[in-house]
Amino acid sequence: MDYERLKPLLFRLDPETAHHMVAGLLGCAQRFTPLFSLIPGLEEPVRDERLSQELMGLRFDNPVGLAAGFDKNGELIGAMARLGFGFTEVGTVTPRPQPGNPRPRIWRHVKEEALQNAMGFNNDGAEALGKRLKKARPYPIPVGVNIGKNKITPEEKALEDYAACIDTLADLADYLVVNISSPNTPGLRDLQNEAFIAELFAMIKEKTDKPVLLKIAPDMSEASAVTLCVKAVEVGAAGIIATNTSIDYSLVAHPVDRGGISGRPIREKSFAIFEAIAKELFGRALLVSVGGIDSGYEAYRRIKAGASLVQVYTGLIYRGPGLPTLIDRTLLHLLEKDGFSHISEAVGVDRR
Ligand SMILES: Cc1cc2nc3c(=O)[nH]c(=O)nc-3n(C[C@H](O)[C@H](O)[C@H](O)COP(=O)(O)O)c2cc1C
Repeated sequence: MDYERLKPLLFRLDPETAHHMVAGLLGCAQRFTPLFSLIPGLEEPVRDERLSQELMGLRFDNPVGLAAGFDKNGELIGAMARLGFGFTEVGTVTPRPQPGNPRPRIWRHVKEEALQNAMGFNNDGAEALGKRLKKARPYPIPVGVNIGKNKITPEEKALEDYAACIDTLADLADYLVVNISSPNTPGLRDLQNEAFIAELFAMIKEKTDKPVLLKIAPDMSEASAVTLCVKAVEVGAAGIIATNTSIDYSLVAHPVDRGGISGRPIREKSFAIFEAIAKELFGRALLVSVGGIDSGYEAYRRIKAGASLVQVYTGLIYRGPGLPTLIDRTLLHLLEKDGFSHISEAVGVDRR
Protein backbone atom coordinates (compact mmCIF):
# COMPACT_ATOMS: atom_id res chain seq x y z
CA MET A 1 0.00 0.00 0.00
CA ASP A 2 1.31 3.48 -0.71
CA TYR A 3 0.94 6.41 1.67
CA GLU A 4 -1.75 8.13 -0.46
CA ARG A 5 -4.09 5.20 0.34
CA LEU A 6 -3.34 5.29 4.07
CA LYS A 7 -3.61 9.07 4.38
CA PRO A 8 -7.44 9.32 4.18
CA LEU A 9 -7.71 6.76 6.96
CA LEU A 10 -5.22 8.59 9.17
CA PHE A 11 -6.88 11.91 8.36
CA ARG A 12 -10.20 10.59 9.66
CA LEU A 13 -8.62 10.44 13.11
CA ASP A 14 -7.98 13.37 15.40
CA PRO A 15 -4.47 14.60 14.42
CA GLU A 16 -2.92 13.91 17.80
CA THR A 17 -4.41 10.40 17.92
CA ALA A 18 -3.05 9.77 14.41
CA HIS A 19 0.36 11.00 15.55
CA HIS A 20 0.39 8.61 18.51
CA MET A 21 -0.61 5.69 16.29
CA VAL A 22 2.13 6.41 13.78
CA ALA A 23 4.70 7.04 16.52
CA GLY A 24 3.62 3.77 18.17
CA LEU A 25 4.11 1.82 14.95
CA LEU A 26 7.50 3.44 14.31
CA GLY A 27 8.54 2.66 17.89
CA CYS A 28 7.59 -1.02 17.45
CA ALA A 29 9.40 -1.20 14.12
CA GLN A 30 12.48 0.27 15.75
CA ARG A 31 12.52 -2.65 18.20
CA PHE A 32 11.53 -5.30 15.64
CA THR A 33 12.86 -4.09 12.29
CA PRO A 34 10.89 -6.45 9.95
CA LEU A 35 7.86 -4.31 10.87
CA PHE A 36 9.31 -1.46 8.79
CA SER A 37 8.23 -3.44 5.71
CA LEU A 38 4.61 -2.88 6.81
CA ILE A 39 4.90 0.91 6.74
CA PRO A 40 3.13 2.24 3.63
CA GLY A 41 5.28 4.39 1.39
CA LEU A 42 8.57 3.78 3.19
CA GLU A 43 11.56 3.85 0.84
CA GLU A 44 15.14 2.59 1.11
CA PRO A 45 17.30 5.51 2.32
CA VAL A 46 19.62 7.06 -0.28
CA ARG A 47 23.30 6.56 0.41
CA ASP A 48 25.33 8.85 -1.78
CA GLU A 49 28.60 10.59 -0.98
CA ARG A 50 27.48 13.62 -2.97
CA LEU A 51 24.95 14.42 -0.24
CA SER A 52 27.19 13.93 2.79
CA GLN A 53 28.65 16.87 4.66
CA GLU A 54 30.84 17.45 7.68
CA LEU A 55 29.33 20.32 9.68
CA MET A 56 29.97 21.41 13.27
CA GLY A 57 32.35 18.45 13.49
CA LEU A 58 29.50 16.04 12.74
CA ARG A 59 28.89 13.87 9.73
CA PHE A 60 25.53 14.31 8.00
CA ASP A 61 24.87 11.57 5.41
CA ASN A 62 22.25 13.80 3.82
CA PRO A 63 20.92 17.31 4.51
CA VAL A 64 17.31 16.41 5.37
CA GLY A 65 16.42 16.42 9.07
CA LEU A 66 13.34 15.84 11.19
CA ALA A 67 12.24 19.16 12.69
CA ALA A 68 11.63 19.54 16.44
CA GLY A 69 8.28 18.60 17.91
CA PHE A 70 7.63 15.29 16.17
CA ASP A 71 9.82 13.25 18.51
CA LYS A 72 9.65 15.44 21.60
CA ASN A 73 10.81 12.71 23.96
CA GLY A 74 13.57 11.13 21.89
CA GLU A 75 11.81 7.82 21.33
CA LEU A 76 12.20 7.51 17.57
CA ILE A 77 15.85 8.18 16.73
CA GLY A 78 16.43 4.75 15.15
CA ALA A 79 13.19 4.95 13.21
CA MET A 80 14.07 8.36 11.81
CA ALA A 81 17.42 7.03 10.58
CA ARG A 82 15.54 4.17 8.87
CA LEU A 83 13.18 6.67 7.20
CA GLY A 84 16.28 8.18 5.62
CA PHE A 85 16.65 11.35 7.66
CA GLY A 86 20.22 12.65 7.78
CA PHE A 87 19.68 13.97 11.33
CA THR A 88 16.93 14.44 13.88
CA GLU A 89 16.04 17.00 16.51
CA VAL A 90 14.38 15.87 19.73
CA GLY A 91 12.35 18.15 22.00
CA THR A 92 11.42 20.81 22.69
CA VAL A 93 12.26 19.57 26.16
CA THR A 94 11.78 21.58 29.36
CA PRO A 95 13.59 21.05 32.69
CA ARG A 96 10.53 19.55 34.37
CA PRO A 97 7.91 17.35 32.68
CA GLN A 98 4.70 19.17 31.73
CA PRO A 99 1.41 18.13 30.12
CA GLY A 100 1.12 20.96 27.56
CA ASN A 101 -2.15 22.64 26.66
CA PRO A 102 -5.53 20.87 26.81
CA ARG A 103 -6.62 18.88 23.74
CA PRO A 104 -7.56 19.44 20.99
CA ARG A 105 -4.27 21.17 20.22
CA ILE A 106 -3.41 20.12 16.66
CA TRP A 107 -5.61 20.88 13.66
CA ARG A 108 -5.23 20.07 9.96
CA HIS A 109 -5.92 22.56 7.19
CA VAL A 110 -6.09 19.89 4.52
CA LYS A 111 -6.72 22.07 1.47
CA GLU A 112 -3.75 24.26 2.35
CA GLU A 113 -1.58 21.26 3.34
CA ALA A 114 -0.99 22.91 6.69
CA LEU A 115 -1.14 22.15 10.38
CA GLN A 116 -1.91 24.43 13.26
CA ASN A 117 -0.65 23.42 16.68
CA ALA A 118 -0.92 24.73 20.21
CA MET A 119 0.83 21.83 21.91
CA GLY A 120 2.58 23.96 24.55
CA PHE A 121 5.73 21.84 25.02
CA ASN A 122 4.10 18.68 26.31
CA ASN A 123 7.13 16.55 27.22
CA ASP A 124 8.57 14.09 29.74
CA GLY A 125 11.19 16.55 31.05
CA ALA A 126 14.97 16.77 30.70
CA GLU A 127 15.86 13.89 33.01
CA ALA A 128 13.61 11.37 31.27
CA LEU A 129 14.93 12.50 27.87
CA GLY A 130 18.49 12.14 29.17
CA LYS A 131 17.86 8.55 30.25
CA ARG A 132 16.38 7.68 26.88
CA LEU A 133 19.23 9.34 24.96
CA LYS A 134 21.80 7.39 27.00
CA LYS A 135 20.15 4.16 25.91
CA ALA A 136 19.95 5.27 22.27
CA ARG A 137 23.70 5.87 21.97
CA PRO A 138 25.64 5.43 19.75
CA TYR A 139 23.22 7.41 17.59
CA PRO A 140 22.76 6.26 13.97
CA ILE A 141 22.43 9.91 12.84
CA PRO A 142 23.32 13.25 14.49
CA VAL A 143 20.84 14.17 17.24
CA GLY A 144 20.03 17.76 18.14
CA VAL A 145 18.39 18.57 21.46
CA ASN A 146 15.94 21.47 21.32
CA ILE A 147 15.45 23.14 24.71
CA GLY A 148 12.79 25.47 26.13
CA LYS A 149 11.35 26.76 29.37
CA ASN A 150 8.54 25.39 31.50
CA LYS A 151 5.20 27.19 31.26
CA ILE A 152 5.16 27.98 34.99
CA THR A 153 8.65 29.50 34.95
CA PRO A 154 8.35 33.30 34.95
CA GLU A 155 10.11 35.12 32.15
CA GLU A 156 12.76 36.60 34.46
CA LYS A 157 13.80 33.05 35.44
CA ALA A 158 13.82 31.71 31.87
CA LEU A 159 17.61 31.66 31.80
CA GLU A 160 17.67 29.16 34.67
CA ASP A 161 15.47 26.77 32.70
CA TYR A 162 17.79 26.86 29.69
CA ALA A 163 20.73 26.36 32.06
CA ALA A 164 19.07 23.35 33.70
CA CYS A 165 18.41 21.72 30.32
CA ILE A 166 22.03 22.26 29.30
CA ASP A 167 23.34 20.79 32.55
CA THR A 168 21.28 17.65 32.05
CA LEU A 169 21.51 17.22 28.29
CA ALA A 170 24.52 18.95 26.70
CA ASP A 171 26.78 15.90 26.98
CA LEU A 172 24.16 13.77 25.23
CA ALA A 173 23.48 16.21 22.39
CA ASP A 174 25.37 16.39 19.11
CA TYR A 175 24.10 19.96 18.90
CA LEU A 176 21.70 22.06 20.98
CA VAL A 177 18.93 24.42 19.88
CA VAL A 178 17.54 27.21 22.00
CA ASN A 179 13.89 27.63 21.21
CA ILE A 180 12.60 31.09 21.95
CA SER A 181 10.17 31.05 19.06
CA SER A 182 7.27 28.77 19.94
CA PRO A 183 3.99 30.71 20.04
CA ASN A 184 2.49 28.33 22.58
CA THR A 185 4.35 29.25 25.76
CA PRO A 186 3.12 32.64 26.95
CA GLY A 187 5.92 35.24 26.82
CA LEU A 188 8.46 32.93 25.15
CA ARG A 189 8.73 34.99 21.98
CA ASP A 190 9.44 38.08 24.08
CA LEU A 191 12.83 36.49 24.73
CA GLN A 192 13.69 37.19 21.10
CA ASN A 193 15.61 40.32 22.06
CA GLU A 194 19.30 41.14 21.93
CA ALA A 195 19.78 41.57 25.68
CA PHE A 196 18.39 38.14 26.48
CA ILE A 197 20.34 36.51 23.64
CA ALA A 198 23.60 37.98 24.95
CA GLU A 199 22.89 36.77 28.48
CA LEU A 200 21.78 33.37 27.22
CA PHE A 201 24.89 32.66 25.18
CA ALA A 202 27.20 33.99 27.90
CA MET A 203 25.65 31.42 30.24
CA ILE A 204 25.81 28.66 27.62
CA LYS A 205 29.51 29.27 26.84
CA GLU A 206 30.31 28.76 30.55
CA LYS A 207 28.65 25.38 30.45
CA THR A 208 29.38 23.65 27.16
CA ASP A 209 31.50 23.57 24.01
CA LYS A 210 28.75 21.88 22.04
CA PRO A 211 27.43 23.80 19.02
CA VAL A 212 24.30 25.76 19.92
CA LEU A 213 21.83 27.04 17.35
CA LEU A 214 19.10 29.63 17.76
CA LYS A 215 15.62 28.87 16.39
CA ILE A 216 13.58 31.90 15.43
CA ALA A 217 9.97 32.70 14.52
CA PRO A 218 8.84 33.83 11.07
CA ASP A 219 6.69 36.65 12.42
CA MET A 220 9.35 39.28 13.09
CA SER A 221 10.24 41.86 10.46
CA GLU A 222 13.15 40.73 8.30
CA ALA A 223 15.26 43.55 9.70
CA SER A 224 14.72 42.56 13.35
CA ALA A 225 15.26 38.88 12.55
CA VAL A 226 18.58 39.72 10.91
CA THR A 227 19.70 41.97 13.78
CA LEU A 228 18.80 39.30 16.34
CA CYS A 229 20.57 36.51 14.45
CA VAL A 230 23.70 38.58 13.84
CA LYS A 231 23.81 39.33 17.56
CA ALA A 232 23.36 35.64 18.38
CA VAL A 233 26.29 34.69 16.17
CA GLU A 234 28.43 37.47 17.66
CA VAL A 235 27.81 36.11 21.15
CA GLY A 236 28.55 32.53 20.20
CA ALA A 237 25.66 30.84 18.36
CA ALA A 238 27.00 28.24 15.93
CA GLY A 239 24.03 28.72 13.67
CA ILE A 240 20.44 29.68 13.05
CA ILE A 241 17.33 27.58 12.45
CA ALA A 242 14.67 29.56 10.58
CA THR A 243 11.79 29.16 11.13
CA ASN A 244 9.29 27.99 13.68
CA THR A 245 5.49 28.13 13.08
CA SER A 246 3.64 31.37 12.27
CA ILE A 247 0.87 33.18 14.13
CA ASP A 248 -0.26 34.96 10.96
CA TYR A 249 -3.77 33.49 10.83
CA SER A 250 -4.52 35.14 7.50
CA LEU A 251 -2.43 32.36 5.94
CA VAL A 252 -5.27 29.79 6.14
CA ALA A 253 -8.98 30.01 5.33
CA HIS A 254 -10.31 28.62 8.60
CA PRO A 255 -7.79 29.31 11.34
CA VAL A 256 -8.29 28.27 14.95
CA ASP A 257 -7.76 31.14 17.40
CA ARG A 258 -4.56 29.74 18.96
CA GLY A 259 -1.29 28.05 18.09
CA GLY A 260 1.10 28.31 15.17
CA ILE A 261 0.66 27.45 11.50
CA SER A 262 3.10 25.21 9.64
CA GLY A 263 3.36 23.67 6.20
CA ARG A 264 2.72 25.08 2.77
CA PRO A 265 1.18 28.45 3.76
CA ILE A 266 4.33 29.49 5.66
CA ARG A 267 6.67 28.51 2.84
CA GLU A 268 7.25 31.98 1.37
CA LYS A 269 7.31 33.76 4.73
CA SER A 270 9.79 31.25 6.05
CA PHE A 271 11.90 31.47 2.91
CA ALA A 272 11.94 35.27 2.95
CA ILE A 273 13.18 35.43 6.55
CA PHE A 274 15.69 32.68 5.87
CA GLU A 275 17.02 34.46 2.80
CA ALA A 276 17.32 37.79 4.62
CA ILE A 277 19.36 36.09 7.35
CA ALA A 278 21.46 34.19 4.81
CA LYS A 279 22.34 37.41 3.00
CA GLU A 280 23.92 38.61 6.21
CA LEU A 281 25.27 35.41 7.76
CA PHE A 282 26.10 32.97 4.98
CA GLY A 283 29.69 31.83 5.49
CA ARG A 284 29.72 33.02 9.12
CA ALA A 285 27.27 30.55 10.70
CA LEU A 286 25.54 27.26 9.97
CA LEU A 287 22.14 27.96 8.45
CA VAL A 288 19.22 25.55 8.66
CA SER A 289 16.02 26.25 6.74
CA VAL A 290 12.64 24.88 7.85
CA GLY A 291 9.05 25.83 7.07
CA GLY A 292 6.88 24.54 4.25
CA ILE A 293 9.46 22.22 2.68
CA ASP A 294 7.77 19.21 1.10
CA SER A 295 9.82 18.44 -2.00
CA GLY A 296 13.36 18.18 -3.25
CA TYR A 297 12.77 21.28 -5.34
CA GLU A 298 11.91 23.39 -2.29
CA ALA A 299 14.80 21.88 -0.33
CA TYR A 300 17.14 22.74 -3.20
CA ARG A 301 15.88 26.34 -3.27
CA ARG A 302 16.76 26.66 0.44
CA ILE A 303 20.16 25.04 -0.10
CA LYS A 304 21.03 27.40 -2.95
CA ALA A 305 19.88 30.30 -0.77
CA GLY A 306 22.43 29.30 1.88
CA ALA A 307 21.07 26.38 3.91
CA SER A 308 23.55 23.63 4.69
CA LEU A 309 20.69 21.62 6.17
CA VAL A 310 16.90 21.60 5.92
CA GLN A 311 14.21 20.19 8.19
CA VAL A 312 10.65 18.97 7.67
CA TYR A 313 7.67 18.31 9.87
CA THR A 314 4.32 19.07 8.19
CA GLY A 315 5.52 17.74 4.83
CA LEU A 316 5.94 14.35 6.46
CA ILE A 317 2.24 14.33 7.42
CA TYR A 318 1.08 15.23 3.91
CA ARG A 319 3.70 13.36 1.85
CA GLY A 320 4.40 10.39 4.11
CA PRO A 321 7.44 8.51 5.34
CA GLY A 322 9.03 8.35 1.88
CA LEU A 323 9.61 12.14 1.94
CA PRO A 324 13.26 12.25 3.12
CA THR A 325 14.26 9.74 0.47
CA LEU A 326 12.22 11.54 -2.19
CA ILE A 327 13.95 14.81 -1.31
CA ASP A 328 17.39 13.17 -1.45
CA ARG A 329 16.71 11.62 -4.86
CA THR A 330 15.43 14.91 -6.27
CA LEU A 331 18.46 16.74 -4.84
CA LEU A 332 20.81 14.33 -6.59
CA HIS A 333 18.94 14.88 -9.85
CA LEU A 334 19.06 18.69 -9.46
CA LEU A 335 22.76 18.69 -8.54
CA GLU A 336 23.52 16.70 -11.66
CA LYS A 337 21.35 18.94 -13.81
CA ASP A 338 23.20 22.03 -12.56
CA GLY A 339 26.60 20.42 -13.03
CA PHE A 340 27.49 20.16 -9.33
CA SER A 341 29.48 17.14 -8.22
CA HIS A 342 28.74 17.62 -4.49
CA ILE A 343 26.05 19.33 -2.42
CA SER A 344 28.62 21.68 -0.88
CA GLU A 345 28.99 23.32 -4.31
CA ALA A 346 25.26 24.16 -4.30
CA VAL A 347 25.05 25.42 -0.70
CA GLY A 348 24.70 29.19 -0.88
CA VAL A 349 25.40 29.38 -4.60
CA ASP A 350 22.90 32.28 -4.76
CA ARG A 351 24.95 34.14 -2.14
CA ARG A 352 28.31 33.93 -3.87
C1 LIG B 1 2.61 19.59 15.97
C2 LIG B 1 3.86 20.41 15.92
C3 LIG B 1 4.66 20.50 17.06
C4 LIG B 1 5.83 21.26 17.05
N1 LIG B 1 6.61 21.32 18.17
C5 LIG B 1 7.77 22.02 18.13
C6 LIG B 1 8.61 22.07 19.27
O1 LIG B 1 8.34 21.44 20.30
N2 LIG B 1 9.75 22.82 19.20
C7 LIG B 1 10.09 23.51 18.06
O2 LIG B 1 11.15 24.16 18.05
N3 LIG B 1 9.32 23.47 16.97
C8 LIG B 1 8.17 22.75 16.98
N4 LIG B 1 7.39 22.71 15.86
C9 LIG B 1 7.80 23.51 14.67
C10 LIG B 1 8.54 22.68 13.63
O3 LIG B 1 9.75 22.18 14.16
C11 LIG B 1 8.86 23.54 12.39
O4 LIG B 1 9.73 24.60 12.76
C12 LIG B 1 7.59 24.17 11.77
O5 LIG B 1 6.52 23.26 11.83
C13 LIG B 1 7.82 24.58 10.31
O6 LIG B 1 8.17 23.47 9.52
P1 LIG B 1 7.11 22.64 8.62
O7 LIG B 1 6.38 23.64 7.77
O8 LIG B 1 7.94 21.67 7.83
O9 LIG B 1 6.20 21.93 9.56
C14 LIG B 1 6.21 21.95 15.85
C15 LIG B 1 5.42 21.84 14.72
C16 LIG B 1 4.25 21.09 14.73
C17 LIG B 1 3.42 21.00 13.48
